Amino acid sequence: MSETVLITGASGLLGRALVAKFSGAGFQVLAQCHRHPGKDGDNVRWLAGDFSTIESIAHFLWKNEKILSQCRYLINNYGPITVRPTIAVKGSDLLADFQQQLVPTVDISHFLIARAPLQMVLTIGFEYSGEIRAYQKILGYAMAKNALLLLTRSWAAAYPDVCFNLFSPPSMENAAVLPKQARTVAPELVADRIFRIMSRRRSGVHYRYNNPLRASRK
Ligand SMILES: NC(=O)c1ccc[n+]([C@@H]2O[C@H](COP(=O)([O-])OP(=O)(O)OC[C@H]3O[C@@H](n4cnc5c(N)ncnc54)[C@H](OP(=O)(O)O)[C@@H]3O)[C@@H](O)[C@H]2O)c1
Repeated sequence: MSETVLITGASGLLGRALVAKFSGAGFQVLAQCHRHPGKDGDNVRWLAGDFSTIESIAHFLWKNEKILSQCRYLINNYGPITVRPTIAVKGSDLLADFQQQLVPTVDISHFLIARAPLQMVLTIGFEYSGEIRAYQKILGYAMAKNALLLLTRSWAAAYPDVCFNLFSPPSMENAAVLPKQARTVAPELVADRIFRIMSRRRSGVHYRYNNPLRASRK
């Protein structure tokens, strides 16, 4: 069986770099997009899906059940950032952040665990995954991303036959939202790092990834 990977948010900044990396390495890539599909190629197939609601995620999964049942690898990359002053955050904002970060990851992973020869799930965290700190603008996003960390560790213990990884990327060049004085890394370098993590076939969490180009200039 070919090595098939599902990449969510594949038409975004990091997603496009991941599609290029995995397809270039000979994987069959199932690339989920919402409104902006790329071109299908010999080993890239674009799958449109809307992850706004539980029902629309289920629709994406059942519509593509046959091809998804080939997946050995899953990269939960979809996870849009939300920005709101902490004092203005309401319960409904937290629900929306959890819907965007958690629900697709949980429902897609479960679907593939049950139906595909899944070996590896890698979920994308954020720069401060695992840190307890005060957030002024991205509290809901940070809470939901840290919940993904708990999910990853718990699933790694619950499903010994599948590897679960969480990778915390730094701010990336050309990101829509960047903190002041952010030190950015090219999405292609982040995709390389994710590819190496997935090649190891172990479970783990991967915090703070520094720009290797900057380090080598020191
Ligand atoms: N960018 C950064 O600096 C940074 C830093 C740390 C962590 N991260 C994390 O890295 C991951 C990738 O971030 P990114 O900046 O590369 O993302 P991005 O460029 O904002 O990509 C967004 C993706 O989500 C898709 N999408 C939008 N609405 C959707 C919907 N309703 N249903 C399903 N898909 C939808 C888009 O599809 P279409 O374009 O086809 O509509 C696109 O593929 C995220 O988990 C993010 O939290 C990013």
